[in-house]
Amino acid sequence: MIERDERLVSASPDVEDQEIENGLRPRRLGEYIGQQKVKETIDVFIKAAVNRGEALDHVLLFGPPGLGKTTLAGIIANEMGVGMRTTSGPAIERPGDLAAILTNLNPGDILFIDEIHRLSRSVEEVLYPAMEDFVLDIIIGKGPSARSIRLDLPRFTMVGATTRAGLLTSPLRDRFGVISRLEFYKPEELAEILRRTADILKVKLADGGAEEISRRSRGTPRIANRLLKRVRDYAEVKADGIITPKVADLALQFLEVDSLGLDKSDRRLLKAMIEKYNGGPVGLDTLAASISEEAGTVEDVLEPYLMQMGMLARTPRGRVVTPNAYKQLGLPMPQHEEG
Ligand code: ADE
Repeated sequence: MIERDERLVSASPDVEDQEIENGLRPRRLGEYIGQQKVKETIDVFIKAAVNRGEALDHVLLFGPPGLGKTTLAGIIANEMGVGMRTTSGPAIERPGDLAAILTNLNPGDILFIDEIHRLSRSVEEVLYPAMEDFVLDIIIGKGPSARSIRLDLPRFTMVGATTRAGLLTSPLRDRFGVISRLEFYKPEELAEILRRTADILKVKLADGGAEEISRRSRGTPRIANRLLKRVRDYAEVKADGIITPKVADLALQFLEVDSLGLDKSDRRLLKAMIEKYNGGPVGLDTLAASISEEAGTVEDVLEPYLMQMGMLARTPRGRVVTPNAYKQLGLPMPQHEEG
């Protein structure tokens, strides 16, 4: 239970963490480290829109949690010099909720909708004409006397974020002019992010300290920054407050983060596959139930990094572990009988 809460906190930081994190968030494209392709794409389209004095086309950002989708939305607003309204798919329960948000936007504003794959159908249908023609069709009254009125909306830019582009309906996906996929960060990029964070938070990082943490942060800035704070706590209590590679290694062992950044939840998943299902193939729902996780958490949070590291594969018959997983867990590979 505690393990699951820990992961949820890392997937959606609590208020205090968020406040600290807001100070850490880069505000301009030039400060944003990594995601070179996404940055270049956004830079071109922002410059073109600014030159023409137009609103930017709608942007869809997708990729695993913690890679900077919200940060990029904020950067787009700053670079365009416009305001941003933030909401999320599950928060917009009824078409009226969306209408209230849309009619309060200023021209050019960014509307950031996180977890956009979780919008209800009825809300989505209101969104189509809003995105395409900047109009809102509202039904007034009920039954035979119901009539529809059309309201003009300011030209706005929608920035949608999702961990799973595959779950978007195609009419919605087709209404985005720019679709960008965020990738896991390289260790060098995460080390640079950590040095920037350490600077802002006045954390003492010795040479090689950032690298030790960055290699073990699952390619994810949110995790890197969280580990940095916990490693700092450890360094202050168990050492002299300076994060050397040795101190970072001891702290990460203490936090049960292994040499490749796998944590207890990752190991629990791989172990369940190996010990209960002989390494697979096993179906997602069965696997999730066997470790008391939501299938969505397994699919969005745990699996992407394990696949990236070549420890788990999705096959048509289900999930399978690879020899790398046995090696990382120090478990013997099953012997295959000949014949
Ligand atoms: N903090 C979190 N993500 C970052 C990024 N991509 N660049 C700079 N600082 C960050």
